[in-house]
Amino acid sequence: MALLEILKYPNPALRKETEPISEFNNELHELIKNMAETMYDAPGIGLAAPQVGVNKQLVVIDLHPKDEERQLIVLINPEISEGEGSVVDEEGCLSVVDLSANVSRFAHVKVKAQNAQGDPIEFEAEDWFARVIQHEVDHLHGILFIDHLSRLKRALYKKKRKKQLHELVNMSK
Ligand code: NI
Repeated sequence: MALLEILKYPNPALRKETEPISEFNNELHELIKNMAETMYDAPGIGLAAPQVGVNKQLVVIDLHPKDEERQLIVLINPEISEGEGSVVDEEGCLSVVDLSANVSRFAHVKVKAQNAQGDPIEFEAEDWFARVIQHEVDHLHGILFIDHLSRLKRALYKKKRKKQLHELVNMSK
């Protein structure tokens, strides 16, 4: 197993549409293990393949990453088939450093996906679980949670991030 590098905004790899997965082989299982390890190490409650530079439809989620009873959820080729209600809550993202903000999401979703073995799965999710799934599925379509914020908030974050990166470059000179 290995820790993977988590790409940060504004890395263009985070903006790509991802490819569906059709081979459920050892290579995929290795990637899942490495993504899970990277998520727990971060620590985070969800990680999508594009965040580690892999352009595929794969996300890992664990709502209780710190508990001894971890329960890893692996979703391959996930799709939100239905959504209803809306709820606003605070979100952050391992790829969007130093920002958390309120985002409106469906309160309840129906999800279609495949598991690590390629078997089709279908389930309903609500509350925080529904939010995390929506956030991670967004990643598979090149969408970040900042895209759900007002234009002003997004512009402020871009500016702050630019300044941060500029300072990093200057420090390394
Ligand atoms: Ni994220």
